[in-house]
Amino acid sequence: FILPVFLIVLSYGLGSISFSYIVSRKIAGIDIREHGSKNAGATNTLRVLGVGPAVLVLVLDALKGSLAVLLSLYLTHDPVWPVLAGLAAIVGHNWPVFFGFKGGKGVATTIGVVAVLTFLPGLLAGIVAILAIVIFRYVSLGSLIFVTLLPLMIVLLDRLTALSYPTVYVIGVFVIMILSYIRHRSNIVRLIRGEENKIGGTA
Ligand code: G3P
Repeated sequence: FILPVFLIVLSYGLGSISFSYIVSRKIAGIDIREHGSKNAGATNTLRVLGVGPAVLVLVLDALKGSLAVLLSLYLTHDPVWPVLAGLAAIVGHNWPVFFGFKGGKGVATTIGVVAVLTFLPGLLAGIVAILAIVIFRYVSLGSLIFVTLLPLMIVLLDRLTALSYPTVYVIGVFVIMILSYIRHRSNIVRLIRGEENKIGGTA
């Protein structure tokens, strides 16, 4: 029992490494949380610093989620632990212990978590989300579509194909969705009011 608990704490610590903060500090000498949407994430890095730094943040924030899940997958047997490790990494990203608990919205880290845990459902949800972002140019809308489709895709693939996922995966991804809604509250309000920031183009 000690090992899984250690892995969860480690995953939270991993998630707490806020790469948008680190990259923006190193590249531009700024605190990303004082610019743009003030969110410590890849989207705001894109907005404030451009494509290169944003891709770097996206990849690193995703990798910490993947690493957390992989460690628990290899070192424990019960599927509940990789799920909790993934959740801990996302919670760390959103409320990082190293950065005054002021983090991001967990989407990049979620991508990293589901890439390992439920690859195909993640891929399908991701394709729809990317299409939505390309069409509407709201990353937040794409993020919300992504997290909403994740549990649905898992259940659908479980029912319709030979793939099968532990129930705890569905529960975990559902919790990820709720966490994401909570972190996207201000985005949801802006989307409803038609005031959300668009990416690309002239907006
Ligand atoms: O992943 C975060 C994204 O969905 C929204 O970011 O900076 O536009 O609030 P932001």
